[in-house]
Amino acid sequence: MSARTELPRISFEARRAVDRAVRALGDVRARVNLRWLAALTGAPASELSRVLAELTELVPVETEIRARHRAGGRAHYAQFRAPFELYAFVRWVRPDHVIETGVSSGVSSAHILAALRRNRRGTLHSIDLPTAQRGTRFGRTESPVALPPGRATGWAVPDDLRSGWDLRLGASETLLPPLVRSLDTIGLFLHDSRHTPGHLTFELTTVRPGLRPGAIVLADNTVWTGSAFPRFARSIGARVARRGRTDLVGLRVASPPVDPRPRKL
Ligand SMILES: C[S@@+](CC[C@H](N)C(=O)[O-])C[C@H]1O[C@@H](n2cnc3c(N)ncnc32)[C@H](O)[C@@H]1O
Repeated sequence: MSARTELPRISFEARRAVDRAVRALGDVRARVNLRWLAALTGAPASELSRVLAELTELVPVETEIRARHRAGGRAHYAQFRAPFELYAFVRWVRPDHVIETGVSSGVSSAHILAALRRNRRGTLHSIDLPTAQRGTRFGRTESPVALPPGRATGWAVPDDLRSGWDLRLGASETLLPPLVRSLDTIGLFLHDSRHTPGHLTFELTTVRPGLRPGAIVLADNTVWTGSAFPRFARSIGARVARRGRTDLVGLRVASPPVDPRPRKL
């Protein structure tokens, strides 16, 4: 999808909702990349506007995530920079099952859970092998993904989003294969765990048999994973869509020809 996708013209209401949500979360890196959203969904601007306008309702969620991060000694919200696109992907795909590897404080998880709640269907299955912060205070030598003292994986996820969340602690090397075998279809997969070429290839090839037509597959920090993602994309005949100049990438699994009537979210 490096053939440039046209920039969708979203409504004023949608723009205002995005601005509010970004402000509440407190990090400008979370501004929505509309071209990337359009490239991966293929959705018309009217539908993108409709789903992005919902972000106004997420302002209390964003405010709570920010407060939880601050209380845990983190000035910045997270490692995952596209939480609002993630919300929109889940709203668009309406998956029965979403899998993510790599949870940390749970910014990506919270946005997937919020979208599934709005969809009124679907389960998030998350896998995380947590690491603990060594000191009592967050210092420069600590990994930002480590758990602050007294916190557990997903510590920034508001309580009211947690019901029905299938959170599994352990290495994805062990937990991902049986999870995929137990699910009928996967509508969205997010890799945000161990960023090595071998590990990303392992995760992508493991989820591949479960991916349904139209599924979205995302991988963050691909600067460290070499050609693993583009190679996987080629193997399934999909194109890689990069989020602006970042190393967060995605692809959409080919769908069979569909009814041309626009979908309602
Ligand atoms: C970049 S963080 C995830 C960020 C998260 N998606 C967010 O939105 O904030 C990576 C997480 O993956 C975990 N991890 C590292 N290796 C892993 C593995 N082999 N299996 C599962 N989780 C792993 C790390 O401990 C960390 O919690």
